[in-house]
Amino acid sequence: MKTIDDLDVAGQRVFVRADLNVPLEGTTITDDGRIRAVAPTITKLLERGAKVIVASHLGRPKGEPDPRFSLAAVAVRLGEILGKPVAFATDTVGDSAKAAVAALGDGEVVLLENLRFNAGETSKDDAARGAFADQLAALADRYVGDGFGAVHRKHASVYDLPARLPHAMGDLIATELGVLKKLTDEVARPYVVVLGGAKVSDKLGVIDNLLGKADRILIGGGMAYTFLKAQGHEVGISLLQEDQIPTVLEYLARAEKNGVEFVLPVDVLVSADFPDLKTKAPATYQVVAADAIPADQEGLDIGPKTRELFASKLADAATVFWNGPMGVFEHPDYAGGTSAVAQGLLASDAFTVVGGGDSAAAVRILGFDETQFGHISTGGGASLEYLEGKTLPGIAALEG
Ligand code: 3PG
Repeated sequence: MKTIDDLDVAGQRVFVRADLNVPLEGTTITDDGRIRAVAPTITKLLERGAKVIVASHLGRPKGEPDPRFSLAAVAVRLGEILGKPVAFATDTVGDSAKAAVAALGDGEVVLLENLRFNAGETSKDDAARGAFADQLAALADRYVGDGFGAVHRKHASVYDLPARLPHAMGDLIATELGVLKKLTDEVARPYVVVLGGAKVSDKLGVIDNLLGKADRILIGGGMAYTFLKAQGHEVGISLLQEDQIPTVLEYLARAEKNGVEFVLPVDVLVSADFPDLKTKAPATYQVVAADAIPADQEGLDIGPKTRELFASKLADAATVFWNGPMGVFEHPDYAGGTSAVAQGLLASDAFTVVGGGDSAAAVRILGFDETQFGHISTGGGASLEYLEGKTLPGIAALEG
């Protein structure tokens, strides 16, 4: 795959597909990790005299402009991080974008409005996506793919556009792929995987694949309750995907056969009420054994014994991959489990990878020093799909 060093960019209009899909509260960016992660690629291109056009999606608008998902605040933050003005186009391929690109001098940068304000971006119809990709291609001379978090999406700017322009991968994608290799082809053992998050269905593919690769799999978060139920425990009103129980049972059986250790919570924090994430008012909860969840309560975090257990299972690891929070970490009363896992990673001598999305945001929001981890990925779904062994459309397109 070509890198940006292989691309001649001086005086050229270079389209950089980034993933600037950052968490927002109103117009306040609560975690700017993804903006900082792509900044070195943009800076390198600007220093080489490129006219840089940055584009991204934000959230999941429905194919038309929706101010709740505007990238305007991101343009401001990107400018602060780059240390230079970032022009902002209020559309993607319309008059504003065309004028902003035409006004770019060498070494200058514009951010386009949210790509998903155009229905062609995410369309399942090849022709509709292709038509949007044609419009984007008309804005630029070169393409740099560096939106690692979106490479698992077969979207116009990720998949169709590279075929229309001389292209290369950016430095962020190069780094991310290098790290993922260490979790697949060159893994140091023991290899411990920690999975959390709400839905077990999002993680089935990766568990399936890891049953042949990992030495130990620790399960927390909302998805753990489907495992507990599969083992015959009542889970009260906790998150549950009843239809996944047969699959989960098959995984537990296969793990035993393959000698993969599966570790489930032994205690949990439960409450009858979901906490108020806005006011963060103190929650009312109790700690119960994982096989004694009251019928009218739901599990909202792993308990203290589980935190110790998970830390002990991380202590001798040589490689750790962690994806998904252990509880409702957005509320301080239920952040302890996620914090304990982060601490467990830091206490081990392992090469530690935090797989994007909520777990990466949690690490930063909970105040951990991100430089202490081996790697914090910018891709949640993208890292998981890579570890599932799937072909990622955005990577395949850059290889072509
Ligand atoms: C992510 O946050 O995982 C990426 O930005 C992809 O977003 P999507 O799941 O809305 O496609």
